[in-house]
This record gives sequence, C-alpha cells and structure tokens, in this order.
Amino acid sequence: MNNFVFRNPTKLIFGKGTIARLAEEIPAGCKLMVTFGGGSVKKNGVYDQVTAALKGRDYIEFWGIEPNPKIETLRKAVEQCRRWGVDYLLAVGGGSVLDGTKLIAAAVKYNGDAWDLVRNNALIGEILPFGDVMTLPATASEMNRNAVISSIETKEKFGMKVDYPRFSILDPQTTFSLPKYQRAAGMADTFIHVMEQYMTVAGESPLMDRWSEGILQTLVEIAPSVLENENDYDSMANYMLCATTGLNGFIAMGVTEDWSTHQIGHELTAINGLTHGHTLAIVFPGLLKVLRDQKMAKILQYGERVWGIHDGTPEERAARTIDATENFFRSLGLQTRLHEVGIGEDIILEIERRFNERGVAFGEGRNVNGTIARRILEAVK
Ligand code: NZQ
Ligand code: ZN
Repeated sequence: MNNFVFRNPTKLIFGKGTIARLAEEIPAGCKLMVTFGGGSVKKNGVYDQVTAALKGRDYIEFWGIEPNPKIETLRKAVEQCRRWGVDYLLAVGGGSVLDGTKLIAAAVKYNGDAWDLVRNNALIGEILPFGDVMTLPATASEMNRNAVISSIETKEKFGMKVDYPRFSILDPQTTFSLPKYQRAAGMADTFIHVMEQYMTVAGESPLMDRWSEGILQTLVEIAPSVLENENDYDSMANYMLCATTGLNGFIAMGVTEDWSTHQIGHELTAINGLTHGHTLAIVFPGLLKVLRDQKMAKILQYGERVWGIHDGTPEERAARTIDATENFFRSLGLQTRLHEVGIGEDIILEIERRFNERGVAFGEGRNVNGTIARRILEAVK
C-alpha cells in the first residue's frame, strides 16, 4: 500500500426533505449568491424548496451555468460577486453548476483573469466558502475539491483543484426528474471514477479493491431500476451514494490511480461537445484493449468478481470481461463506438496532436501519450 493523507471536511446531509435545512448551514448575515444551471430546478420544485429555506436571507441569484461550465459565463458571475460584495456561495444543480461555483469562489479575490487559475492552480489564494444542493448523482463534486472548466474560445477543458464544499445537501427525490440519458451518463461516469482508482496495479489493497468492487456491483445491480423506475427512492438513494463515494477519496487510499480515460474524454467533450459520462463509456473499453497486458491481473480480478468470469485462458477471460463492460454501457442505452456519435479520424488526430503538443503522458504507467491515446480511440472507432 502506498503512503497517503486523507482529509475530507464536507458535511454530507442526505435524505428526504433535507433542503429545508439550508438556512442552518449558511451563516446568518452573509451576502449570498445562489448559482443555477439552465432551469431544471424550476421544473422539479427544487428552486421553490431553496427559496423557501432561504426566506428572509440576503441573496442574489446567478442563472445559466451550462453543462461543462464555461469560463466565459463564470467571469460574469465573478463580476457580480464583486459588485454585490458576495461572501458565500450556494450551488443548486448538477456537477457543472457546482464546479463552476468552485471556480467563482476561487476567482472573486484573484486579481487577474479567472482562466489563469484553471491553468495554474498554484495561483489560487483566498477562496469564498460554498455549499451546494446536488441534483445529479455522477461527479462527486459534492464531496471533493475538483472542478472541470471549459473554454468556448479555445475549445479546451481542464480539471483543477479548488476546495471542498462546506456542506452538501443530497435529497434523492430531486433526481426523480432526471432524463434517462443523464441517468445513464451519470452511472457511466460513476463506474469509470471507480475504475480510474481500481483498474491499475493488483495487490495494493484488498480493502480498497473490495470497496471499489462493491460500488461497481451495486451500480450493475441497481442500473435497471435507476433507468426504468423514475421515482424509486431507494434506487436513486443508492445511486447517489455510489456517485459520492466513487470520487470522494474513500476508495483511493494507498492505491495507484490512472485517470487517462478522463483526460481523453475531456478532449472529446471539448472538441465535440459529447456529454462527459458518455465519452468515458466509449474510451474505457478501448483503453482496456490497448493496455490489456499492463492491466491484465486487475482485469482478471474485476472480471471474476464483478462479472463472474472464471473459465478460459487469461486472454479469453480478459476479452470477455472487456465485452461485458462495453455491454453494460450499451445496456444503459449509451453508444460505445465513436462513429455512432459522429466522431471521426479528424478528432482522433487532433487529440493525438494536443497530447503531443502538451508533452503529456497519463495513467499509472505514465505511458498514455498522444500515440497511445490515438490507438485507444482507434480501438473503439
Ligand atoms: O442546467 P440545468 O437546467 O439544471 O439541467 C442540467 C443539465 O442540462 C440537468 N439536470 C441536473 N439535475 C437535474 C437535471 N435535469 C433534471 N432533473 C435534475 N435533477 O442535467 C444536465 C447535465 O448537468 P451537468 O451538471 O452538466 O451534469 P453532471 O453532474 O454530470 O456534471 C458534468 C460536469 O462535471 C464534470 C464534467 O467534466 C462535466 O463538466 N466533472 C466533474 C468532476 C468533479 N468535480 O469531481 C469529476 C467528473 O469526472 C467530471 O469530469
Ligand atoms: Zn468523470
């Protein structure tokens, strides 16, 4: 097991009716900005619950943080925070609203342009405190310090480290209104978060392995219900908890991580606009094919424990395990090949070019460079 430091200060408030507790969590007397996306919260009653909970408080609203939050939008929010003297932020929505709000929190007191902070996290100084009401289980942004920010101008998308939410309110009932595609993409995102921390080196921690496999097995078990039973509280509650624990540090203790599927997926979204979780469902089976030998021991363990694949040569078992993984994503209703989502060779070559230009190499072996990224994408053309 590798050395590690674990700290996660977010207070998680989980369950039915918990939005009503908002006012207890936000200090009295602060100047609050509440941030939203495109309006889903007005249709599903979340906005009404938030405004009822904040009755009598001093706050302004900022609307329009879009999926894959754009720096161009966030700059406007930063301006408004400065103008109104905002000193506390509340994000209400999915991972994009919360990620965008993290960037706003870091940029309000920064003297230069907010994009500088995305490109160089070391420039982050004072960060405004923030909390959230999370309405989409996927990113675990509600319990980690990551934000992923995009630029319309440069067609780029980068992850960054900001800070943890002070608190996160998760009422699974808020997810009943999620369209099927967002449920599918969110489950794929959660699945791959676990994989990024699990599908690396065998034998580092049997405990972390079992926790990871527990999340994967739970996702496989509940997926049909999450997709078909729109208002099933227990399925959505378990899905939400899978998402949160999938990327809040619990399964990363002492183990080697990968993250190259995410790096390639971010490029697909930046260039083509494809939804985050969907990019991962396409890239990951390709990554397993190209890096099969490097990851063989873990692929076999995963195949055995999650899919019950015991028989055959290691090569046969690995092939069946990779097929089972791709079939799982297809069972969610997601296409798993690039041509099915209109992505061709030009984008593959552009991603190779970008990785080469940046001189990057990702993954536990630090070997997923431009050439390997191209091979991974070509494996799932
Ligand atoms: O904007 P509104 O109208 O609210 O609609 C949203 C949006 O259109 C809608 N939605 C959210 N909750 C809903 C709902 N619709 C109906 N009912 C609800 N309860 O869903 C759409 C997608 O929302 P978005 O926030 O973009 O989705 P998600 O939570 O999957 O976030 C994706 C972003 O998070 C980043 C991704 O790269 C992407 O930019 N990630 C953040 C991570 C982190 N902070 O740790 C890790 C992830 O790997 C990921 O990269
Ligand atoms: Zn993700």
